[in-house]
Amino acid sequence: MRRPSSIGGRLRTGLALFVVLLAASGVFVYAGFAHQEGAGRQLNNQMYFLQHYTSQLDGDFTDGQLAVANYELTFEHRFLYDYDADGGNFAADLIQMRHYAPPNVRGLIDRQERAGQAWFALANAIIDNPSYSSTDTKPTDESWVTSQSFDTANSAMAANVNATVNRLVRQSKSALSVGLAWSAGALAVAIALGLAIAAGTVRRTLGPLRRLTATVNRLTAGDQDARIQAAGPRELQDVARAVNALADESGRLRENEALSNRLRVMARAAGFRIREHLRADDVIRVAREVLEESLDTDFVYLHVMRDGRMGPPEGHAEDWLLPDDFIEGLPRDALGGLRQMLIDQASQVIQDLPGPEGDQLPPAMREPMRQAGIVSHLLTPFGVGDELLGIIAADRMHHGHPWTDAEVRAVESIAADLGRGLHHARLYDEENRLVEELKSVDRAKSDFVATVSHELRTPLTSVTGYIEMLLDQDMGQLTPEQKHALDTVNRNATRLRDLIEDLLTLSAIEAGTFTTVTEPTSLLDILSGAEEDIRPAASGKGITLATALPADGLVVNGDAIQLGRVMMNLLSNAVKFTPAGGRVELTADAVSGWAIVSVADTGIGIPDADKKDLFTRFFRASNATKRAIPGTGLGLAIVQTIIVGHGGEMSLQSQEGAGTTVIVRLPLAESVGSAERHHEADSRRAAPALGVRS
Ligand SMILES: Nc1ncnc2c1ncn2[C@@H]1O[C@H](COP(=O)(O)OP(=O)(O)OP(=O)(O)O)[C@@H](O)[C@H]1O
Ligand SMILES: [Mg+2]
Repeated sequence: MRRPSSIGGRLRTGLALFVVLLAASGVFVYAGFAHQEGAGRQLNNQMYFLQHYTSQLDGDFTDGQLAVANYELTFEHRFLYDYDADGGNFAADLIQMRHYAPPNVRGLIDRQERAGQAWFALANAIIDNPSYSSTDTKPTDESWVTSQSFDTANSAMAANVNATVNRLVRQSKSALSVGLAWSAGALAVAIALGLAIAAGTVRRTLGPLRRLTATVNRLTAGDQDARIQAAGPRELQDVARAVNALADESGRLRENEALSNRLRVMARAAGFRIREHLRADDVIRVAREVLEESLDTDFVYLHVMRDGRMGPPEGHAEDWLLPDDFIEGLPRDALGGLRQMLIDQASQVIQDLPGPEGDQLPPAMREPMRQAGIVSHLLTPFGVGDELLGIIAADRMHHGHPWTDAEVRAVESIAADLGRGLHHARLYDEENRLVEELKSVDRAKSDFVATVSHELRTPLTSVTGYIEMLLDQDMGQLTPEQKHALDTVNRNATRLRDLIEDLLTLSAIEAGTFTTVTEPTSLLDILSGAEEDIRPAASGKGITLATALPADGLVVNGDAIQLGRVMMNLLSNAVKFTPAGGRVELTADAVSGWAIVSVADTGIGIPDADKKDLFTRFFRASNATKRAIPGTGLGLAIVQTIIVGHGGEMSLQSQEGAGTTVIVRLPLAESVGSAERHHEADSRRAAPALGVRS
């Protein structure tokens, strides 16, 4: 497969070429300059000198010829004055020429030197022997030939030097422009190359970059399936792959998050379902169901501690994977370890039981589990505080499906709810058991009280009957002492009878057999009777008893005996709890269909703290017990039951040390509308219609 080109590689190559071309451009400029300078230097330092000395050599030679020719014509020595200097200059010129001459013209210099020396030798001979005749032209002819030879060599030399000078001048002129032209060319190529690389890179990059941006935008907009195909330069392909990997990872995280949320919701719902139940058996059954429904596992077992030992899997007698004695065979310290896990709120997670991870289990546990085919194992204890109540064990039988953190957390959450639920259910069961026990004790007590009261009433009736006969003196005259003693016996027998009546009423109320048989009853008769009955006691204590009753009316649907007990109870309380010199007022009236009866006294009153318990059986206010005022605390409880049974209401206002007022409201018979009706009153069922006010 062809490796994709990289932007970096292209840019690096382009940059290298650009640098090379730039350097070449510099080199060309430099070479141009160097060439120009070399040519100039050769011209100035060599060729111009050579040109000069070549021409000077020619001049010196010509001057020598001129001097010799003039001398020959005139034989005047003045023409020879400069001749010697010409010869010296000629030799000096030759030396200079040799100094500046390039090797290719050395031959010409040699030829000039030879011709010059030959000519000067002939000239010297002519000067030394200046006879000239037209017949003897030999020296002159030789001199002529020699001169020609020199001139030829000198002209050739001059031509050569001039040609070189011209070439160098041309060269000097063109070198720089050639260098600049090459440099410009290299620069142009470099720029073109740079542009081509830039354009190519932009063209190759832009498309993939746009696609990449579009994919990232889609991902950002929530299209989690958006992926990009790796294309274009290597760097962009790397980015595309990274974006895809990021999207994959984010998808995976989202899936995990969704799974985790689902498990959390499921665990919470499971918790609600578990806690809905109050009985331990139901809690265990529901916990098993929710675990089986919620966990993606092959087996999930619930073991509950019973009598200090871990029990068998709840409801899994058939599909229990492990040997029957597996649980009994657990090592002794296993329970301690489980308890510690409970305290640490930890779970045991083994993702690969047959592998090295399985070593964390003792061999006695691991081996049967491995043989049963268990691959991954999750164990979570549950309980309250450090009290281990049981364990949840979940097993998977195939590889590649490890327990996730979210699953472990979900099981731990269910385990926590299960622990609390089971604990509460057990407390509830225990409470129910105790309540049942108490009820049975209470029933036994009520039966006992009823039986004893009943058994006491019969002999007491006989006792009071005989006392009445004795007091009526049917059985003979009584001495005053005997009468006094009999009065005391009679009083206490009456108290005993009242107490027995109260106890029997109470038993009937508790047993649910207390019934009220109502008929139109004159409340006025009941109130008058009660007033009459209490008056002796009131006057005996020096208490003023005032009544304000209407002349007629006040007919209620009621049970005359029960209403009589109500009024007697209220009046006897008023008299009993009012010290000598106090006042008791009994008033009654009809208001808006109700008979309103009020019993007010100026007695010891009731402490605020005690008011809330006044209607509880056997409750007595603290100031009453402190003053040892006799009573059992049953009166108001019975009064309340009777009033409620009559569809009435009752309220009590009291201030400690100032007095008490009890107000009873009973529906008048007319307002009820029926001539006769029956009320069944159950003190435990009827809602108390009464109030206590200060
Ligand atoms: N008129 C009152 N003045 C002050 N305290 C009262 C008055 N009526 C009731 N109480 C208080 O309420 C308590 C309960 O009254 P209740 O009639 O039920 O019991 P008791 O009179 O003590 O005994 P019993 O009526 O059974 O003989 C009394 O013990 C007393 O402390
Ligand atoms: Mg009383």
